[in-house]
Amino acid sequence: MYLGDYYRTFSKVKDRYRLLAPFYTKISQLVFGDVIHQATTCYLSKIPKKSVIIIGGGDGNHFREIQNELEGEYWELSSSMLKRAQKNLSESQLTFHLGEFKSQEKVSCVIFPFVLDTVPDDEIEQLLMDVSHNLEKGGILLLSDFFRKAGFFHDFMTGLMIRIFRVLTAHKRKDLPDYSKFLSQHGFELTAEKQFKKGWIRSQLWEKN
Ligand SMILES: C[S@@+](CC[C@H](N)C(=O)[O-])C[C@H]1O[C@@H](n2cnc3c(N)ncnc32)[C@H](O)[C@@H]1O
Repeated sequence: MYLGDYYRTFSKVKDRYRLLAPFYTKISQLVFGDVIHQATTCYLSKIPKKSVIIIGGGDGNHFREIQNELEGEYWELSSSMLKRAQKNLSESQLTFHLGEFKSQEKVSCVIFPFVLDTVPDDEIEQLLMDVSHNLEKGGILLLSDFFRKAGFFHDFMTGLMIRIFRVLTAHKRKDLPDYSKFLSQHGFELTAEKQFKKGWIRSQLWEKN
């Protein structure tokens, strides 16, 4: 079977992370060490009241340590990832939801942990429009992800990862999104940023104007 055949096969599978889910955290740690975890969690202490919406949190491992403080909603497109998150975060007050994000819940923080890099531009637009209504006044959007133009090696690695994910999980994206453009257009202002690996990986706090 050629790679393209795999791609087409997996495209028809609803749970696109079914094969990766059991190994996802281990592979991520092998490739990136602790950096993805640091980028996902470095600003969590800045959220005063931990009422959150987490979108695309995967198996939930990153949030384990603070699960006792978390309340709100956890959204996943992959049932294999969601099942793991439910188990890993069983001591939280989160409710777990499978499918496209849709919620009336008001929260102080919306978290996008390494998920927008897999989402097509038009869906990012829709997600940001939706979550704008879920944020309380003065609410925070917490973004951690890979960023463009981080030097030759990192840009090469980004291209490679995108290709691998397009085959394994049928992601639609061929490049990284212009996060700042989308967030600014939706009335968010960047208030803090931490960079890892020369800016390739970043954690950003955005506040709703
Ligand atoms: C690259 S993985 C990252 C998982 C986790 N955040 C981590 O860093 O370990 C992206 C995850 O986002 C989920 N996902 C992608 N698009 C989504 C969407 N629109 N709503 C909810 N989850 C989504 C996928 O199912 C997958 O579990």
